[in-house]
Amino acid sequence: MRKKVVAGNWKCNTTLQEGVALAKEVNDLVSTSDVVVILGTPFIHITEVVKTISNSAISVASQNCAAEPKGAFTGEVSAEMVASTGAKYVILGHSERREYYAETSEILNKKIALALENNLTPIYCCGEPLEVREAGEQNQFVINQLQETIFNLSVEDFKKLIIAYEPIWAIGTGKTATTQQAQEIHKVIRDAIAAKFGQAVADGVSILYGGSCNAQNAKELFANPDVDGGLIGGASLKAADFNAIVSAF
Ligand code: 13P
Repeated sequence: MRKKVVAGNWKCNTTLQEGVALAKEVNDLVSTSDVVVILGTPFIHITEVVKTISNSAISVASQNCAAEPKGAFTGEVSAEMVASTGAKYVILGHSERREYYAETSEILNKKIALALENNLTPIYCCGEPLEVREAGEQNQFVINQLQETIFNLSVEDFKKLIIAYEPIWAIGTGKTATTQQAQEIHKVIRDAIAAKFGQAVADGVSILYGGSCNAQNAKELFANPDVDGGLIGGASLKAADFNAIVSAF
């Protein structure tokens, strides 16, 4: 049985003190043993958030890592550094990083490899922009993203991943994919994985939906057979909302 996962992506929000307070609230509210709950915090929050969390359902993620293992790369944070803080996951390939920081598939492949070498679980993001959706080409667009990156992994490494499908037009817009749109493309992704790595591998990988997922719509989205949880932006910044999403299965 694949895992149910709800991951918060705090993005560039919260001071250290606000972040620790939010983590504490989430820590105290969440009461589940069958959902993997992940807090994707800013780098500098991770150590303190890890110390704050006593709830065994909750782990911490970074939102990025460097494409190089170490060295003269001012301002970068390596996968090894992230792992040394106690984080267990790293969000990679978020559309905001692809778009604003020019992250290509080539760069992502280096980051994914370094994350795996350091025993971090990548939460690999994919998803199409509005014009691709309007042209009806979203399935091929997302499959291309997978083929350029995580489909290059060995089956052993691929099995360690979490995938997040996030249509760019739904991120932060209040416009969510309909439950049918989400199910359809999650199934396309799972079928592509089955064709590449086999049905058992496809059945084992968690595929999360992201994009204006909130306490009101999470239940309907998560009820889809191929939607295994969510990657949550705005609604992860309010502990009660985030906990309602964790409880929406
Ligand atoms: P919102 O939930 O704010 O739309 O953000 C989604 C997202 O980008 C999570 O990574």
